[in-house]
Amino acid sequence: MSTMHEDITAVLFDEDQIKARTRDLGHRISKDYEGKVPVLIGILKGGFMFMADLIRSMDIPMEVDFMAISSYGSGVTSSGAVKIRKDIDVNIEGRHVIVVEDIIDSGLSIRYIRDYLMRHKPSSVKVCALLNKPKAHAKDLNIDYVGFDIGNEFVVGYGLDYDGLYRNLPYIGILKESIYT
Ligand code: IMP
Ligand code: MG
Repeated sequence: MSTMHEDITAVLFDEDQIKARTRDLGHRISKDYEGKVPVLIGILKGGFMFMADLIRSMDIPMEVDFMAISSYGSGVTSSGAVKIRKDIDVNIEGRHVIVVEDIIDSGLSIRYIRDYLMRHKPSSVKVCALLNKPKAHAKDLNIDYVGFDIGNEFVVGYGLDYDGLYRNLPYIGILKESIYT
C-alpha cells in the first residue's frame, strides 16, 4: 500500500519549524494589535490548520470568521478567475481585519480578497500568509506577515492540498512532480 509520504520528495518545514514560526507570528500580531479587537478571516480550505495554530498563540481578544474562494484552474496552476464560495458572516465595517492564507502564489487570490473586503469599509486589512512564493508575483504585492518565503515548487501538507489530498500531512513537503505531470 502506498503512503502519502512516498509522494513527497523533500520535507521543507517540519512540525517543530512550523510551530516555532507560527508562534512568532502570533506574538508579533498580538503586539501590533494590542488594545484592538481584530477580526481574523481564514481562507478555506488551505488556511484552516494555520489559522487554528496561529490564533492559539495570540493572547488578545479577537473574532474569527472564514471565507471560501475557488480560483478556477486545474492541477497546480490557478487561472486567476476567482469566485466566492462562502462569504464572511461578521460585519467588518470599522474593524481591523487580518486575512489568514495558506500560501501566496501569483497573488491573484489575495488581491481579489483584499479588494472585496475593502468594499465593506473595514478600518484596515492586513494579510498573514504562512507561505509566500515571491518569485511568482509582482513585487508591489505587500504581504504584511509571512511565515516562510519559498521557491516555485508545489508544496502540500499542513492544510495545503493537491487535488484535495495531502492536507493532513503534519509537515510541509514538496510534491513529487510525477504525481501531477
Ligand atoms: P494565487 O491566487 O496564485 O496566489 O494562488 C493562491 C492559492 O493557490 C492558494 O491559496 C492555494 O490554494 C493555491 N496554491 C498555490 N500554490 C500552491 C502550492 O504550492 N501548493 C498548494 N496549493 C497552492
Ligand atoms: Mg487557498
